[in-house]
Amino acid sequence: MPTPVTVSEQQLQTQFTYIDAVASLVRDKRPRAYTHTFGCQQNEADTERIRGMLHEMGYEMTDDVNEADFILFNTCAVREHAEDRAFGNIGALSHLKKQRPEVIIALCGCMAQQEKNVEKIKKSYPQVSLLFGTHALWRFPSLLYRVLTGEKRVFDIGGADDIAEGLPVLRKGGAKAWLSIMYGCNNFCTYCIVPYVRGRERSRRPEEIEKELRELVAAGYKEITLLGQNVNSYGKDLGLDIDFADLLRRLNAVPGDFWLRFMTSHPKDASPRLFDAMAECEKVAKQLHLPFQSGSDEILRRMNRRYTAAEYKQLIAYAREKMPDITLSSDIIVGFPGETEEDFAQTLALVREVRFDLLFTFLYSPRSGTPAASYEDNATPAEKQARFERLLRAQDEIVAERQAAYQGKRLRLLIDGTAKGPDYPFTARTEGNLLVCVRGENLRIGEFIEAEIEKTTLRCLFARKM
Ligand code: SAH
Ligand code: SF4
Ligand code: F3S
Repeated sequence: MPTPVTVSEQQLQTQFTYIDAVASLVRDKRPRAYTHTFGCQQNEADTERIRGMLHEMGYEMTDDVNEADFILFNTCAVREHAEDRAFGNIGALSHLKKQRPEVIIALCGCMAQQEKNVEKIKKSYPQVSLLFGTHALWRFPSLLYRVLTGEKRVFDIGGADDIAEGLPVLRKGGAKAWLSIMYGCNNFCTYCIVPYVRGRERSRRPEEIEKELRELVAAGYKEITLLGQNVNSYGKDLGLDIDFADLLRRLNAVPGDFWLRFMTSHPKDASPRLFDAMAECEKVAKQLHLPFQSGSDEILRRMNRRYTAAEYKQLIAYAREKMPDITLSSDIIVGFPGETEEDFAQTLALVREVRFDLLFTFLYSPRSGTPAASYEDNATPAEKQARFERLLRAQDEIVAERQAAYQGKRLRLLIDGTAKGPDYPFTARTEGNLLVCVRGENLRIGEFIEAEIEKTTLRCLFARKM
């Protein structure tokens, strides 16, 4: 496999020149930028890069779309619903564009990497004057410059599978930060659009990742989540003697008091070696998101997942043996083409056997261009919906029991936000990433505290600082 191409120093330097050029164009206008992100954490991390570039150009960020001079939607193509929402949002802005034609409306991300959507935007959404795909993100300064200097519509969906290091980034602040360790996906699960819109797997160099982690720790971030579509295949493309378990060990050695999380793991590449590293690294939170998608081997085969339900359960057993308190979450697709009642029963059985702390359940959504989109379907939407609801009910019963078991426990928590209710004014997370509402003296976002769980509900634990 070729080692990943890093965008050259010179190419990046050109973009920094455009950042300055845009800055001098907009400086006197005190411009404001609004961004909205759909989709996964990768997209959120990308938006932070774009906000970083906008910030360097002199834009102030706003949460009010009506007062923005630059509006950006970073889009997701993983399910039809995500696409519909993005189109709906852009459609709703046509009146704003009529009132204030100078407003720039831009669209980027995974939808913008797909020909069919680009054509639709070109034809039916004239209010969009800038569109760029996931591979063109680092070229954003030059693209915006072209719009600002009079080009009517700028579309850039070209680009190779490369890595751009050193782009500015504007994070939200608070306790948590994303840290991308790799991009793209090689797995081609038959239902999934991600490999088509994100390109092939490419890993950042370990020293770049470590450098960014050190910066994040120095900036006071306490929970850093390593991101990739399949972090377990980290390093395979680097030609160095390093895999994801090695990377975890290396990052665990960075001084400071923080939790490291990671997502997403793919069961076919998750190994005892990884769980050993997790267990040994004290900063790696004992929490695992390991999507299994279906409990039926036949469906897994047709999804091209390359593991069986039995292999999945073995992995979980090993992880629990090494880390008895580990919290587990997973993704499940209900209603994959050809899923029978028997297949679905196996998914339910796996859920009941493993007893996850958290599940993300999705109704299958056909994505054009993926193999599964042309697979023959059998179940009706009503049948699929009924399965979906059965799964939710089964999971709710498990969660209720698991949550109740926390009653009276003492745990280390990281305060990460403010809560709505007056009684428990802050939110926090357990090491296992469970949501907690907390009360107590002198609470501050970004602080680790010891707390006792006072009561529990299905969605939240309630705790008092000790
Ligand atoms: N790379 C990650 C997740 C990517 S997308 C992984 O492999 O686990 C997040 C989740 O969306 C997937 O785990 C899957 O459950 C769901 N998903 C992906 N494509 C989908 C589709 N076409 N319809 C419904 N759910 C889908
Ligand atoms: Fe999609 Fe599968 Fe890749 Fe995850 S591993 S992004 S589900 S193709
Ligand atoms: Fe969506 Fe793209 Fe992420 S399709 S789930 S935003 S990689």
